[in-house]
Amino acid sequence: MKICCLGAGYVGGPTMAMIAHKCPDITVTVADINEKRIAAWNSAELPVFEPGLDDIVQANRGRNLFFTSDMVPAIRDADIIFVSVGTPTKTYGTGSGKAADLKYIELCARMIAEHAEGPKLVVEKSTIPVRTAESLKRVLGANSRPGVTFDVLSNPEFLAEGTAIDDLNCPDRVLIGGESPAAIEKLVDVYANWIPRDRIITTNLWSSELSKLVANAFLAQRISSINSISALCEKTGANVDEVANAIGRDSRIGPKFLKASVGFGGSCFQKDLMNLVYLCEHFGLPDVARYWEQVTDMNDWQKRRFSSKIVTTLFNTVNGKRIAMFGFAFKKDTNDTRESAAIYVGRDLLEEQATLAIYDPKVSADQIFYDLQQPQTDADGKPNDKALICSDPYEAAKGAHGLAILTEWDSFKELDYQRIYDDMMKPAFLFDGRNILDHTELRKIGFEVFAIGQ
Ligand code: UDX
Ligand code: ADP
Repeated sequence: MKICCLGAGYVGGPTMAMIAHKCPDITVTVADINEKRIAAWNSAELPVFEPGLDDIVQANRGRNLFFTSDMVPAIRDADIIFVSVGTPTKTYGTGSGKAADLKYIELCARMIAEHAEGPKLVVEKSTIPVRTAESLKRVLGANSRPGVTFDVLSNPEFLAEGTAIDDLNCPDRVLIGGESPAAIEKLVDVYANWIPRDRIITTNLWSSELSKLVANAFLAQRISSINSISALCEKTGANVDEVANAIGRDSRIGPKFLKASVGFGGSCFQKDLMNLVYLCEHFGLPDVARYWEQVTDMNDWQKRRFSSKIVTTLFNTVNGKRIAMFGFAFKKDTNDTRESAAIYVGRDLLEEQATLAIYDPKVSADQIFYDLQQPQTDADGKPNDKALICSDPYEAAKGAHGLAILTEWDSFKELDYQRIYDDMMKPAFLFDGRNILDHTELRKIGFEVFAIGQ
């Protein structure tokens, strides 16, 4: 059997590497229009940082796992084609800011229809609004060569970045939605190579598509709920981590996704919530739309609250002050910055005329400048002196008035905070946006600590 995947991103790359790893008899080809990205997948420096991914790619690349920008043969030869291209939120026209932009999906469908010479099973892997499979089917059907037929399945991916390899290796469930039992069985057989059958759920197309949006909406809702409570804890003297622990022990609530933070980020939560809101509006359910919109409103508020806290604590001005930011990725163990809270906090502080000194163990300087909408150099070629990208955390903190933890990287817990304190301006303010440090110890050193929900 031959599998091809269109889109070599954070989802397509790791997922296909795992399929190749678990199914030595299947040839897996990952195709992407971005030649630079493909070159990186074929190099020693993969474009995606994900613990455990390097080993799996090394072990299988060139054997039954291939990365190519030559889309046509990959499509022509495949029995199953996964579509795992980006579905960013539309930034123009109808549904701007809410609806998913499906142009990449449609382009894939047209390309598949043009080049498929025999029957294909097309699997939507990208997060997409409900009823996209229907559009996919129509585009495929209307453009196919005579005699060529397509089955379309929805198979949303639930992996979380930073734990992708474990999630793929041992998922809570695999979800496959479709109409044709034979097509569903074909895909079930692939996953059954390593996943117990009772964890493979099959549903109709629409349930599968909607479940992905709803799973992400529920997870995001838990974070916004605990973040809303973090603000109340700060007013009342309760401690949000203690509250989360106490409520999470109730087996009906459960302990996961109750960590208060500077706000959730990532490519999925915001986008999928907005998709859900758009769908509800589209289907005449404005009250349901408003309900889910509150989850992102609360998240925006939490991010703004954090940057305002920094400004007000630093005597109402950060103008000309150096603020060290530890972490820029949207969570630990990834180099992905999409929708990272650090972007919004950073932009707010730049707006307030602060100088940022940023350190992240995995995010590139290019990416940080891009996200902050900052030039790397000024018109005379001098390096940007408003956003400084540092290669080590001590350098970032040196001479800083404030230090903000934006990502919960484990390495931040191991730093020498006495050394950091000694090198900072006094009073030395520390804002722990992830509640990962030992605040009692920090206060003993002399830091003025602000923690979320405490
Ligand atoms: C999410 C879903 O978990 C995954 O199932 C789906 O396939 C894609 O979207 P991801 O965005 O990669 O995965 O990471 P996740 O671990 O869900 O974290 C999302 C954001 O929420 C991060 O910014 C994280 O720091 C934040 N978060 C998570 C919290 O602030 N508190 C928590 O308790 C959990
Ligand atoms: P995700 O997190 O969903 O994997 P990414 O943005 O990381 O999203 O990856 C999507 C990938 O899809 C990008 O590498 C992009 O170049 C690729 N892509 C977009 N359109 C096409 C297409 N028509 N054919 C193949 N790949 C595509």
